[in-house]
Amino acid sequence: MNSGEFFSNKPLSLKFFSVDRLCMNSDEEESFKKQFKDSFDQEMRLEIVKDKVDEISRKIDFLEKKLNNTKKTVEKKKFMIFLDTADVEEIRKAHSWGVIDGVTTNPTLVCKTGRSFEECIHEIVNIVDGPISAEVVSLDSEGMVKEARELAKIHKNINIKIPITPEGLKAIKILSKEGIKTNATLCFSANQAILVAKAGATFVSPFIGRLDDIGHEGMQVVRDIVQIYKNYDFKTKVIVASIRHPLHVIEAAKCGADIATVPFDVLEKMVKHALTDVGIKRFLDDWAKVPKK
Ligand code: G3P
Repeated sequence: MNSGEFFSNKPLSLKFFSVDRLCMNSDEEESFKKQFKDSFDQEMRLEIVKDKVDEISRKIDFLEKKLNNTKKTVEKKKFMIFLDTADVEEIRKAHSWGVIDGVTTNPTLVCKTGRSFEECIHEIVNIVDGPISAEVVSLDSEGMVKEARELAKIHKNINIKIPITPEGLKAIKILSKEGIKTNATLCFSANQAILVAKAGATFVSPFIGRLDDIGHEGMQVVRDIVQIYKNYDFKTKVIVASIRHPLHVIEAAKCGADIATVPFDVLEKMVKHALTDVGIKRFLDDWAKVPKK
């Protein structure tokens, strides 16, 4: 192999370098070649290692992205059911079925119980270990924030229901910076939902039944919100509220909403099926005819 061949596969800077020009004797040439061969080999090994490191980094990036997407999918798959009531007996009963993840209240629901707001809330937080919504009644942001801070002190699970108005947005922004969870309530449009998500609301509650009542398709607003939040990875969770019947719950789950908050009578309708009752009766009747030992 002549020196030209020896260097032919080496880096450009050395390719045009000929050992002959150095006028070395054969021993010097051999030692020279060996010295360079060693350094080239080292250089090659380094290149190979660098290539490997790049390849592994690319693989790690790819796996990280895949893992994050999987995490998001898994998170998205969690569908929660809240009970929409301030009646502690209903809450106790539903909770004993083991399917309730949280509770939402509002001034009307508290009024129906005939008890004080504080009394209701203190009892509810001791029954359900999950998000509990308690609503403010102030109309200005300062008043809302003051009420919210007091309510948040009652229990770590309390989130503050704030109506969607310009003052409400201001309050949500302040509270979210303080780490106080909020539920933007009385939501009737996707535009409102965009604004509360930008303000940092923890939850948004589109009232679908009340939209249906006036001839608008409430569930379409939920679909729009879910799509928009997904497009931009907004963290605000969608609570489908003002639910009137079990079909609303199915639609909420189908379109990817995070939560359905249901009145107790709707929860009862969800569990009940005439064929289940008929089936139980038939099994028991037949069981009675089975000879006993
Ligand atoms: O969570 C809000 C809900 O209580 C409102 O329901 O039946 O008064 O429209 P509704």
